[in-house]
Amino acid sequence: MLDRLQAQSPDALLALIKLHAADPRPDKVDLGVGVYRTGQGDTPVFAAIKAAERKLVDEQDSKAYLGPEGDMGFVEALMPYIFGAEDPSMGGRVQGMQTPGGTGAVRLAVALARAAGIRRVFMGTPSWPNHAQILADLPLDMVAFDHDNDDGTANVDAVLAAIANAEEGDAILLHGCCHNPTGIDYTPEQWDAIAAALATSKALPIIDVAYQGLGHGMEEDAYGLRKVLASVPEALIAYSCDKNFGLYRDRVGAFYVMAKEPGQLDAIMSNAASLARANWSMPPDHGGAAVRLILTDPALTAMWLDELDTMRARMRQVRDRLAAAGTAGAVDMTPLGIQNGLFSMLPLSKDQIASLRSEHAIYMAGSGRINVAGLTSGNIDKFIDAVAAVSA
Ligand code: LMR
Repeated sequence: MLDRLQAQSPDALLALIKLHAADPRPDKVDLGVGVYRTGQGDTPVFAAIKAAERKLVDEQDSKAYLGPEGDMGFVEALMPYIFGAEDPSMGGRVQGMQTPGGTGAVRLAVALARAAGIRRVFMGTPSWPNHAQILADLPLDMVAFDHDNDDGTANVDAVLAAIANAEEGDAILLHGCCHNPTGIDYTPEQWDAIAAALATSKALPIIDVAYQGLGHGMEEDAYGLRKVLASVPEALIAYSCDKNFGLYRDRVGAFYVMAKEPGQLDAIMSNAASLARANWSMPPDHGGAAVRLILTDPALTAMWLDELDTMRARMRQVRDRLAAAGTAGAVDMTPLGIQNGLFSMLPLSKDQIASLRSEHAIYMAGSGRINVAGLTSGNIDKFIDAVAAVSA
């Protein structure tokens, strides 16, 4: 029976982690998977997380099951940051549950949309490769539109056309901030236009917020999400704490629904709980509990926000340095200065990306995506020179 299975190629992005680790060259540079790195190239545990973990070890008196919704203290403590401190539940219309990472939240959002009758999902491409994989696995049809223009700005006409063409049974998957893989976000004015278009569209918005705080700040990065939510009757939101709390392997995420009426939430969330039960039963507790402890302790919250500011400032410095380089060979680096978050795309061919790896020990995704946080004062000149050398 099992011999019927065809071998699958490993996930290209995750395979890069192992390829880089196996490279013996001491000056190797990892611009692959999306983890933040300090100026020394490390991905340390946040000090706020360490403090919360110590508190958790001292205070947690049971690890008995919580249920498919996970730690609701965690889920609710995040809501003011996502939906706004003034009315985090949006008049009682928002409710959520914990998920295994942002991937679990995306999976739950699209599975719930499918259960509600969604058949097609409009999605700007390029996108995070796992978005398409999850849609194909459910399955749901994907209708692609161009996310970006050649000059490194967002193609707002394409998203507005997609919204205008949407019919009953369609959803649209949008990145809330720090677009993966391009780093190209809609401007506030573009979000205003998107929100206005969604207000009269049949498309159900599904918004993936995986990098809040890594672009311009926790509040600033919520602009588009909040604008859309203020304009539409209902929406699904996938949230990740993997990057903004540095909890990657602990898999900390949340899924939220904004319903038309508070009275609809019980039925909607009962469907989400049953999908979660069939998929993973319950989310892992540890990371979510640590985030809850941070967000319910003002001193730990301040410590965390400070660490997030440091991360964001460093990534901005790297982006400014790349933009200041102007062109490297045939590659125009200037758009990287206005892009956000961990990622940007370089217009490099597969061969040029292979040469960067074989000749310069620089590891980046085959799509041309780089993780800018992998660049430090110690390797950024080497990187710019290498891009110039392979693309000249
Ligand atoms: C990335 O895109 O590098 C991260 O989101 C990690 C992942 O799961 O793909």
